[in-house]
Amino acid sequence: MQTVTLNNGVEMPILGFGVYQVPPEATEEAVTHALEVGYRSLDTAAAYRNEDAVGRAVRASGIPRGDLFITTKLWIQDNGSTTRQAFETSLQKLDMDYVDLYLIHQPFGDVYGEWRVMEQLNAEGTARAIGVSNFGSDRLMDLILHNSVVPAVNQVETHPFYQRAVENQLMVGQGVRQESWAPFAEGKNNLFSDPTLGAVAEAHGKSIPQVVLRWLIQREIVVIPKSVRRDRMEQNFQVFDFDLSPQEMAAIADLDQGHSLFLDHRDPAVVAQLSGVTME
Ligand SMILES: NC(=O)c1ccc[n+]([C@@H]2O[C@H](COP(=O)([O-])OP(=O)(O)OC[C@H]3O[C@@H](n4cnc5c(N)ncnc54)[C@H](OP(=O)(O)O)[C@@H]3O)[C@@H](O)[C@H]2O)c1
Repeated sequence: MQTVTLNNGVEMPILGFGVYQVPPEATEEAVTHALEVGYRSLDTAAAYRNEDAVGRAVRASGIPRGDLFITTKLWIQDNGSTTRQAFETSLQKLDMDYVDLYLIHQPFGDVYGEWRVMEQLNAEGTARAIGVSNFGSDRLMDLILHNSVVPAVNQVETHPFYQRAVENQLMVGQGVRQESWAPFAEGKNNLFSDPTLGAVAEAHGKSIPQVVLRWLIQREIVVIPKSVRRDRMEQNFQVFDFDLSPQEMAAIADLDQGHSLFLDHRDPAVVAQLSGVTME
């Protein structure tokens, strides 16, 4: 598996498997299949409520912990004083004694208090790398300037219709790895039947999802597609045996609409809505 080297030297697979919106009762089977297919990087979160099922699938697989890369995330209601407890709860659910990447899930609440505790977890080795998610360039730069550890990763919505090329430049310049969530835009905007993506796919004898993942990988962006279907997990894994030409990369670059298809983290209504989602 191709890896990227994070800013603290930790190696992260460029392709992983995400379990957002996989119901807790279906997660163990989905992760079991993903591990059988060959995925070794798994992306979960306290807010997905399926960390324990991820842990059960990992344990049952018998795959050595050192061969896996596990990411989980801290939800908004936690703050500096509860971050360590929230992290311990995640470890307990995962049945692991460390994670490879621990992310602040949303750029709201006591981000600075949380980050300082995460810096400690990182120094203690129980979070091998720490990072953020859904941080715009301004929030990211502020966090970088006023803390010791530069986030290793910023996991943000990234797909052909929202490419974030300017933000990517900033991240690359600061040593922050961009990780795509919703690489397929969850099918929005008819991504799976887009004619431009379709033409590129046909030229390579590949599918549109494979072309999208390949395009992100060639931009050196980490991808974590989600599927509950084993045939699609296999398809999404077969993306290292072809290359997109500069012309094809440029044609896909033209699909950018420059805005989210899901939610704008700078919209006060979104801040209120997400902050209202509690873990209780
Ligand atoms: N940090 C955040 O705030 C955040 C937000 C969203 C997501 N994420 C992470 O990013 C991961 C991926 O994002 P996502 O799950 O939102 O969206 P996504 O990966 O863009 O899309 C998933 C959807 O695409 C379908 N699909 C997958 N492979 C396919 C294929 N080869 N052909 C046709 N359809 C296919 C899946 O359906 P089936 O399952 O039915 O196959 C599912 O409906 C998540 O699981 C999560 O780990 C993070």
